[in-house]
Amino acid sequence: KTIDSLGDLRGKRVLVRSDFNVPLDGTTITDDGRIRAALPTLTRLVDAGARVVVTAHLGRPKGSPDPQYSLAPVAARLGELLGQDVALASDLVGESARSTVEALADGQVALLENVRFDARETSKVDAEREELAGELARLADAFVSDGFGVVHRKQASVYDVAKVLPSAAGDLVLQEVESLSRATTDPERPYAVVLGGSKVSDKLGVIANLLTKADRLLIGGGMVFTFLAAQGHSVGSSLLEEDQIDTVRGYLAQAEAGGVEIVLPTDIVAADSFAADAPHTTVAADAIPDGKMGLDIGPDSGALFAAKLADARTIAWNGPMGVFEFDAFAGGTRAVAQGIIDATAAGGFSIVGGGDSAAAVRRLGFDEAGFSHISTGGGASLELLEGKELPGLTVLA
Ligand code: 3PG
Repeated sequence: KTIDSLGDLRGKRVLVRSDFNVPLDGTTITDDGRIRAALPTLTRLVDAGARVVVTAHLGRPKGSPDPQYSLAPVAARLGELLGQDVALASDLVGESARSTVEALADGQVALLENVRFDARETSKVDAEREELAGELARLADAFVSDGFGVVHRKQASVYDVAKVLPSAAGDLVLQEVESLSRATTDPERPYAVVLGGSKVSDKLGVIANLLTKADRLLIGGGMVFTFLAAQGHSVGSSLLEEDQIDTVRGYLAQAEAGGVEIVLPTDIVAADSFAADAPHTTVAADAIPDGKMGLDIGPDSGALFAAKLADARTIAWNGPMGVFEFDAFAGGTRAVAQGIIDATAAGGFSIVGGGDSAAAVRRLGFDEAGFSHISTGGGASLELLEGKELPGLTVLA
């Protein structure tokens, strides 16, 4: 259901769940991508004359107020972007929330304090979440779910509240789902997926599903060393999940049997330690010396990955290829980003998912417009690629 299905919203109080889980340095927002991504829905509601009450989380506070996770910096930035003051209620469903909502004029936006300051938000007990959802619902006449990054969470402000109020998906959620379903439902082929990030154990579900869906799986990042070890190579002191080696061996065998091409790096940038200025050298991927730790895929691998992406018609990318935060180890991520941009320019459809890859794209100075879609979701986009049903989406159907 879209916002249009909610009818005339002038003067109506609309509760919007957004994902404002932005990276902070103290109280400074270092990447406001998720706030900007919320603007289409919010401005649409403002223009419709709604009284907009936004609820969101920041970080993982332990279910009680914790000043370091206050949404105050978000309220300020949102106000700048919307061009109006955004009042921040100092609580979620208490006196401050009620009076802040009451004070809203048509077309005004207010933000409720971090929804995770209330332990009921993330409770595993249905009745506890439902109680909070009921209290949130009393603040509004309708609900718009627009926090794509949290739709995989069965939480009060994402899931339960949608069962109580007339509800709709916001523009961000619609656009994300539409884009990601181009990869999950009948992707145009070749369908290539680039996976990186530090841990293979975070990606088991997605790999298992992609082995039945993708044509090519390109693996980099810290997780690649478990793949190299599964092939019998020594990985020096690189990140390694020994308990996953057998699982990965199984994946390699399954890929071979199923005709899925697994592309692994042929060279690795190996360093003496984990530091921006660590001495480093490029070595063959099957011979990482003892004491050296792989922090990026090497230049040959970057070229190989780009070549494997060149003719792809659908591309999904999740996870950086190396420690891109350090310049010396950003080359692999750069090569993959450029390869995807080139493939997109040649007519492919590309999705970048996961907070880290999206941040890498911005930090390395790539033009976001070079990709077909940059997802605001980390876990949510992965779970969609994994083929899972997401509670925050099914509840809106
Ligand atoms: C994210 O950062 O991926 C979302 O905001 C979800 O956060 P969570 O993993 O703490 O639920």
